[in-house]
Amino acid sequence: NFEKQIDSILNLMTLEEKVGQMNQYNGFWDVTGPVPKEGNAAEKYEHLKKGMVGSMLNVHGVENVRKLQELVVNESRLGIPLLFGFDVIHGYKTLAPIPLAEAASWDLEAIERSARIAAKEAAAVGLNWTFAPMVDISRDARWGRVMEGGGEDPYLGAKIGVARVKGFQGDDLAAPNTIAACAKHFAAYGFAEAGRDYNTVDIGLNTLYNIVLPPFEAVVNADVRTVMNAFNILNGIPATGDAFLQREILKGKWNFDGFVISDWGSVGEMVPHGHAENLEHAAELAVKGGSDMDMESTAYVTHLVDLVKAGKVEEKWVDDAVRRILRVKFELGLFEDPFRYCNEKREKERLYHQDHLNGALDMATKSIVLLKNENDLLPLSKDQKNIVIIGDLADDKNSPLGSWRLASDDNTAVSVLEGLHTYTKNYTYVQGPKIFDDKADFLHHVKVHDSTEGITEAVEAAKNAEVVVMVLGEHGFMSGEGRSRTNLNLPGKQLDLLKAVHQVNKNIVLVLMNGRPLTITWEAANIPAILETWHLGSQTGHAISKVLFGDYNPSGKLPMTFPRSVGQIPIYYNHYSTGRPVEQPNVFWSHYGDESNKPLYPFGYGLSYTSFKYDDLRIDSSDPKNINVSVTVANTGKVKGEEVVQLYIHDRVASIVQPVKKLKGFKKIMLAPGETREVTFTLTDAELGFYDQSHNWVVEPGTFDVMVGTSSVEGLSESFTLK
Ligand code: IFM
Repeated sequence: NFEKQIDSILNLMTLEEKVGQMNQYNGFWDVTGPVPKEGNAAEKYEHLKKGMVGSMLNVHGVENVRKLQELVVNESRLGIPLLFGFDVIHGYKTLAPIPLAEAASWDLEAIERSARIAAKEAAAVGLNWTFAPMVDISRDARWGRVMEGGGEDPYLGAKIGVARVKGFQGDDLAAPNTIAACAKHFAAYGFAEAGRDYNTVDIGLNTLYNIVLPPFEAVVNADVRTVMNAFNILNGIPATGDAFLQREILKGKWNFDGFVISDWGSVGEMVPHGHAENLEHAAELAVKGGSDMDMESTAYVTHLVDLVKAGKVEEKWVDDAVRRILRVKFELGLFEDPFRYCNEKREKERLYHQDHLNGALDMATKSIVLLKNENDLLPLSKDQKNIVIIGDLADDKNSPLGSWRLASDDNTAVSVLEGLHTYTKNYTYVQGPKIFDDKADFLHHVKVHDSTEGITEAVEAAKNAEVVVMVLGEHGFMSGEGRSRTNLNLPGKQLDLLKAVHQVNKNIVLVLMNGRPLTITWEAANIPAILETWHLGSQTGHAISKVLFGDYNPSGKLPMTFPRSVGQIPIYYNHYSTGRPVEQPNVFWSHYGDESNKPLYPFGYGLSYTSFKYDDLRIDSSDPKNINVSVTVANTGKVKGEEVVQLYIHDRVASIVQPVKKLKGFKKIMLAPGETREVTFTLTDAELGFYDQSHNWVVEPGTFDVMVGTSSVEGLSESFTLK
């Protein structure tokens, strides 16, 4: 408990110094938002020396961090150390799979380990704070940032968010292998209209309380130390200035005692939103709304002192914000040693450490989802003759690293070809058409070439192949911030290539790489084997090869629904029933005239090289506070494998209608061939309730359906009545 020390520091601080703590500047080179005005580097240095900066973002590497920390500690009057924040989204140098891929593992321990590896590398380069995890729920694959989250479901999203917070923060924030986490973006950023980034969010309070907020509440309960607010307006009010979200819910109802950082420039963006008249007004609204630190808007540092002096902002809000910021600095051990994250030896030893690469490989194999495997085409035999590999992405060492990888070195992924090479020399590689520009980067849209050149050569090579492995998908930089798409097909001429090859050889394994669900409807109907590999990071080629050749039996399940067509979006498993759900002999029921209502691949779906049989679903509801649900699961195939046993409930009648299904439990188990295991879940008020119209958590009596199975659409069902 550092409150006494914080009190004494607050007593020493001038108003200017307090406001300084609430100011975060970007470093002088990398940007992760609109480019700041030129020539302000000199001003930033001056501000650092005067104690007018509390934190820097995008400054990393021991040498760089040390330089600025020394400047502040030695030259500012009080020498309050800086926080160094950075987007360590799925690793620093060693890259794990993108978060959406990790979510597909449904393996909370692996996800926690993966975040710890990221924290270890980040803490070794001077950083003490990551802007992760993103816990935004989204039902819209057009939104490029779905790659950064845990998918569409609040229950799974909350569990994953907590695992990632634990991984980053550990039990001791001051340890040299942990860093502060940041839950973002508070709130509802994932509901941007039409999937266009930064766009309007207008959703009902039912969706806010029951879908958007639960992952945030869970990570706050897990003691996440910071929260980032959001660019979007929520029901007419910019999240950055929204006292209802930040003061009433986050800091009030949930008792959050860390601090809130704005998003890049989001304080200033309240002006173009039409909520604030100018930057000064924006500063006033943001502070009152509960934003404690201003990222790169310069609104606080320019206007807050005057706003307090003019009586427009009460100093108590400034004191509260500074207290929160100092608290996190104390917890990180920065007052004890401002250079505790600056150790050159550690920096050298830790980056790309073999243990980290091994961890990234483990996580990557667990993230792969087997979508289709007709006639057991997979796994391939290690003696398989005459494999032809096709696709621009097969030879790519950059794209599989995925988006949001600001510090990673280009071309450091193990490519699919490199991975395959360790298994077999019996393959031929044909690139086919060049799809993606080699110069793709984080700041710009990827140029997609539209040439068909190379298709003929690929078809020729495929003609006599025993099996064709086609590596197709999106470039790693086609998802992420600012990368919305209206079309979710394979970019460029990849589908033409696939169809042309399919004409001459049906024995195709499609290896997909993408940062979001795609509309692969033709592919799903025609290609016998499909592996969803997302963007798997540093160890991509090794992970994919292990799965292709059966050294790892795929166990991933989709964390997000794959639509059949973009017109179905938003499409998600936990939807409500309409009043006309049932097919009629005429048109008067809820459906499309030109497409099925069904998804292409549902939430929770994923196959294995073995098969699992579910039996004997039993519910013991004698204790209404602890309803036990058990099922037996058997591995009925020939190889060992992991299954994610999923439990869904449906509250048949409620004061607020409930989704047709809600995930309320899952367990990932490993079974040897022939092995049977009983799996038990306990349903308590936490699983059976919902936020009602007054936003209170209620459990209403009535009948509940329970389904336990292998995906959101396949399982055994039973029901019980809660008295
Ligand atoms: O952390 C990010 C945020 O998610 C989007 N805008 C920029 C921030 C800092 O880079």
